[in-house]
Amino acid sequence: MPDILIVYYSRTGNVAQLARLVARGVEEVPGMRARLRSVPPVAPVTEIAAAPVPDEGAPYATPADLRECAGIILGSPTRFGNMAAPLKHFLDSTGAEWASGALVGKPAAAFTSTGTTHGGQEATLLAMLLPLLHHGTLIVGLPFTEAALNATRAGGTPYGASHVAGTSGDRAIGEEAKILARALGRRVATIAAKLIA
Ligand SMILES: Cc1cc2nc3c(=O)[nH]c(=O)nc-3n(C[C@H](O)[C@H](O)[C@H](O)COP(=O)(O)O)c2cc1C
Repeated sequence: MPDILIVYYSRTGNVAQLARLVARGVEEVPGMRARLRSVPPVAPVTEIAAAPVPDEGAPYATPADLRECAGIILGSPTRFGNMAAPLKHFLDSTGAEWASGALVGKPAAAFTSTGTTHGGQEATLLAMLLPLLHHGTLIVGLPFTEAALNATRAGGTPYGASHVAGTSGDRAIGEEAKILARALGRRVATIAAKLIA
């Protein structure tokens, strides 16, 4: 069964929640399966390798995940209008997969969570799409034919799925943002299914 790889970093759980919604959307497409993977945190002392299996959350992504997937969706908290360092660190380790064209022609998308409404969601989503372009993926966003995109007062953008978690990080994901996160997963999986048919 073809897998859509969802690779995310989440420190306080909001992006992890979005990842599970995106995964639900993927699995709404007959014959498609979500493969949820996280990336380890980075520390100033980088000589100490992280354990291969995290204490909680999804297993860490590996190069094999990139080779085997039929599509890829990246998720990260917004940090200073950009993706968080752990996801960037993981992407910076994908030179061999770039060189071999492991992701060329596969559909790809992104999702994020911020503390504030205008805290840089689109900038972060676009930042995640840049390495995906270098990898030769086919960028997938959310069209305004998704009614929730017009209705949302918080999360959800044409550039990808999103959530405004609030400055305390404890705001629940709104209905529209949930719908749009699932729609993103469904859209990537639908396109992947057509491409491999
Ligand atoms: C170092 C740092 C930088 C951040 N920068 C931003 C930012 O630029 N804009 C914003 O709205 N929120 C910012 N935040 C808040 C996070 O994006 C927000 O808490 C997010 O929901 C965390 O996702 P998580 O729960 O998956 O870890 C920042 C948080 C940290 C720790």
